Amino acid sequence: MSEVAELKLEGQTVELPVVVGTENEKGIDISNLRAKTGYITLDNGYMNTGACTSAITFIDGEKGILRYRGIPIEVLAERSSFLETAYLLIDGKLPTQPELDNFTNRVRRHTMIHEDIKRFYDGFPRDAHPMAILASVVSSLSTFYQHENNRTEAELFSLNTVRLLAKLPTIAACAYKKSIGQPLMYPQNHMSYCENFLHMMFSTPAEHYEVDPVMIETLNLLLILHADHEQNCSTSTVRMVSSSKASLFAAITAGICALWGPRHGGANEEVIDMLTQMRNEGGSVSKYVEMAKDKNTKFKLMGFGHRVYKNFDPRAKILKAACDKLLAKMKISDPLLDLAKELEEAALKDPYFIERKLYPNVDFYSGIIYKAMGIPTVAFTVMFALGRLPGWIAHAKEYLNEPGNKINRPRQIYIGPALADYVSVDKRK
Ligand code: CMC
Repeated sequence: MSEVAELKLEGQTVELPVVVGTENEKGIDISNLRAKTGYITLDNGYMNTGACTSAITFIDGEKGILRYRGIPIEVLAERSSFLETAYLLIDGKLPTQPELDNFTNRVRRHTMIHEDIKRFYDGFPRDAHPMAILASVVSSLSTFYQHENNRTEAELFSLNTVRLLAKLPTIAACAYKKSIGQPLMYPQNHMSYCENFLHMMFSTPAEHYEVDPVMIETLNLLLILHADHEQNCSTSTVRMVSSSKASLFAAITAGICALWGPRHGGANEEVIDMLTQMRNEGGSVSKYVEMAKDKNTKFKLMGFGHRVYKNFDPRAKILKAACDKLLAKMKISDPLLDLAKELEEAALKDPYFIERKLYPNVDFYSGIIYKAMGIPTVAFTVMFALGRLPGWIAHAKEYLNEPGNKINRPRQIYIGPALADYVSVDKRK
C-alpha cells in the first residue's frame, strides 16, 4: 500500500497521500486538505512547497547534483551542444542524428526577425537596459504571429519553440548593437548557434570577422549550464503564465522579467559591480566579508548562496575551471578574477558562510567569463536568458501536456482589517 501521512487537526485525523519521486524525494499531497478540513498550508517564499511533479531536471542541493532528463550536467557540459541539450530538455530524450539535423536546420531557418521589429530599437533610449528590450521585443513577437489558427496546438508550440530559440540571439545582439550605435547585423545561417550569436555581437559590415573557437566553445558550455534549473523563480513564472493559457511568447516574456532581478539572474551583473567596487576601494576582501555578515547592512556577497544548493553549485565548479582555461587561452590576466578567488577562499573559511552552507553559485564565475568574452556587464543577464530559454519552454510544454492541468492560483491567509465602514471623505481623520 502506498504511504500516507496523518495530520491531527481539531480532534480529527486526516490521511494525506505521500508522493515519492524517482530519487526517493517525498512530498505530502495536500490538494484535498482544504476540502477535508478548511485549512490551507502556508509557506512564504515557497521554501517547502512542491508546485508540480516534473520529469525534466533533478537537483540534489545537499549533494551538489544536477541532471537534465537523468544525464549529469558534467557529462552534458563535456559532450553536448546547446541545441542538442535544448532538444533533450524539450523533447525528453537525446535526438538521433537525423532528429538533431532536422531540429538544427529548423532553428537555422528562423533566425531573422521581421524587418519592422528593427524599428522598435529606435524607440528605446540609448541606455535602455537590454533585459527590458529583450522582454519587450519577445512580447512583440506574438503580434507578428497571431493568425495561425490552421495549426494544431502541438504544431504551433513546436513552431514557436523554434522561432524563440532562433530569434532570441538575434534580438539580444540587436539590443547590444543599438546601445553602441553600430548597425544591426544579420544572422549567418551557415554558422553554428553560438558562432552566429557571437558574430552578430562583434562583427560589423565594414570588415571580415572570425569568431575565436575558444569563445564558441565557452559560450556553448555557458548556455548548457544555464539551460534548466527546475522550479526557480523565472521557470515557475513561465509555468504560472502558461497555466492561464496565455501564448508561449507571453509566458517567456514573463520569465525574462522574473530572471532580471538581482536575487535571480541579475546577480551575475552584480558580482562584477561588487568586484569592481572592491578593487576600486583597494581590494579589501575582509571588509566585504564582514559587511556581508553584518545584519545591520543589507549587503550580501553577490554570487554566494542558493535556495537549493547547500553544497557547491556543480555549475560553479565547472565554470571555475572553464574560466581559468579561457583566460589562459586568451592570454587575459584579470585582477577581478584574482579578487574573486581571494573572496571565495575567505568566505569558504569563514564560520558564518560555513554554518549557513553558503557556497559560490553559477553567477560567481559566469560574470568574469562574459567579461573576458567582451560582453558588456549590463548584458550578462541577457546571456543567462539565452541559456535558460529551453528550460522555460520545456516546463511550459510539460505543464500544457499534463492531463487535467489547472490554472495556478495560490491561496492566502488574509491578515488585513475585518469588515470596515466606508467613512465619507469629510469625516475621515
Ligand atoms: N551573503 C551573505 N549572507 C547570505 C547570503 C550572501 N550572499 N546569502 C544568504 N545569506 C544568509 C542570509 O542572510 C541568511 O542568514 P540568517 O540565517 O542569519 O538570517 C541565511 O544566509 C540564509 O539565507 P536566505 O536568504 O534565507 O536564503 P534564500 O534561499 O532565501 O536566498 C539567495 C537564496 C540566492 C536569494 C541568497 O543566497 C542571495 O541573495 N544570494 C546573493 C544573490 C545571488 O547570488 N543570487 C544568484 C542565485 S544563483 C542563480 C539563480 O538561480 O538565479
